Amino acid sequence: MKQIYSGKTKDVYELEDGNYLLSFKDDVTGENGVFDPGANTVGLTMEGAGEAGLRLTQHFFEILKEKGIPTHYIDADIAKRTMTVVPATVFGKGLEVICRYRAVGSFLRRYGKYVEEGQPLDAFVEVTLKDDDRQDPPISAEGLDMLNILSLEEYETLARLTREISGVVKEDLAKKGIELYDIKLEFGRDAKTNEILLIDEISGGNMRAYKDGKYIEPLELEKLVLA
Ligand SMILES: Nc1ncnc2c1ncn2[C@@H]1O[C@H](COP(=O)(O)OP(=O)(O)OP(=O)(O)O)[C@@H](O)[C@H]1O
Ligand SMILES: [Mg+2]
Repeated sequence: MKQIYSGKTKDVYELEDGNYLLSFKDDVTGENGVFDPGANTVGLTMEGAGEAGLRLTQHFFEILKEKGIPTHYIDADIAKRTMTVVPATVFGKGLEVICRYRAVGSFLRRYGKYVEEGQPLDAFVEVTLKDDDRQDPPISAEGLDMLNILSLEEYETLARLTREISGVVKEDLAKKGIELYDIKLEFGRDAKTNEILLIDEISGGNMRAYKDGKYIEPLELEKLVLA
């Protein structure tokens, strides 16, 4: 097994059969010891964060599989904190696609002159470039097309899948009385078939979820959702 990448929250290995293995760590993003799903640095280590992230990821990817939504998910081994996935190539040097239901985080920081904190947004989709040095800049569909990162047609596919997947997560959380404010997804192309797939993870680390108006930390979210 060959390690091909060491990320902020996961390590990536290539298996003998060509599939990838994602190994979930206890590191979470944030700053100065405070968790922030929008941050680009490892802010703190939380015992159990890797396992909780994997459990939630497995939960959501299993639901998506049942619904026939294309993802990289093959299987997960909770004891080993690993997930086997189909290898994908990313768009450009990697994109994040955000779906927003309420104005918080970077959206509020950017557009605070025009929105109130927590104001409802109608599944608003935004794409950002994965570029830590430049604080993951947002980019329009036209910008993605112009820079040859995505065609306008591929953008539509990505935006549609993002609304569909985020809706699935939102609905599942709602069953536990939890409201999804925003969520960040990653996509890639299946290295063999070229099909656009949801990749990476879906955990407390890449969404903001609230219960009774109070933000729920990733470890707590796992307990509430899987209870
Ligand atoms: N199926 C897949 N095929 C290829 N790469 C994948 C797949 N699923 C996830 N990845 C990538 O594996 C890495 C997982 O590591 P982690 O989430 O810790 O990275 P990160 O620190 O967020 O990474 P980055 O520095 O790229 O932002 C990410 O770069 C993600 O894009
Ligand atoms: Mg990541």
